[in-house]
Amino acid sequence: MSQKTAIYPGFFDPITNGHLSIVTRGLEIFDKLIIAILNNPHKTPLFSIEERIFMIKTAVKDKPNIEVDTFDGLLVDYAVNKNSNVILRGLRALSDFEYEFQMALMNRKLNRNIQSLFLMTDYKWFYTSSTIIKEAASFGGDITGLVPDIVSKKLKEKFRN
Ligand code: PNS
Repeated sequence: MSQKTAIYPGFFDPITNGHLSIVTRGLEIFDKLIIAILNNPHKTPLFSIEERIFMIKTAVKDKPNIEVDTFDGLLVDYAVNKNSNVILRGLRALSDFEYEFQMALMNRKLNRNIQSLFLMTDYKWFYTSSTIIKEAASFGGDITGLVPDIVSKKLKEKFRN
C-alpha cells in the first residue's frame, strides 16, 4: 500500500501549540506530514525562515514521519512536486472560514486533483494565533502554554533586544 502524505502549509511565524495539535491529529490520518513554510518575500516575518525551521524541527522532534520544508510559488504545484494530493488546514473561530473557503476554492480551481482537508482546531486554541501571541509577547505578556518551549524562549530573546 502506498504511503499517504499530506501537506500542512503556513507561515508559521512562529509555530504555536494550535499548529502542533493539528500536526498530531493529522498524523492519526496520514502516514506522513510535510510542514511547508511559505517563503514569502512580500511579508516581513518576525522570525527568519531558518529560525522558523529550527523551532518547528525542535517542536516536532519526538513525532514520527514529519518533514519540514519551505516553498514559494503556488501551493498546489508544491503539493504535486511532493507527490501529495492533500492540503491540511486547521479551522479556528468563524473568522477563519471565509479566508479558508476562498483559498480552498482557488486551489481547487488551480488543480482539481488536490483536496483541501480541514480539522477543527481544539477548543483550547480556538482564539489564539501566531499574530496575537507575538503581540502579547512583545509587551512582556505571559504566553506559557500557547507555544512550544523553544518558541517561548525565542520570543523572549527577540523582544529582549
Ligand atoms: O499561515 P497562513 O498565513 O494562514 O498560510 C497561508 C498559506 C501559506 C497557506 C497561503 O498563503 C498559500 O498557500 N500561499 C501560497 C500561494 C498560493 O498557492 N496561492 C493560491 C491559493 S490562495
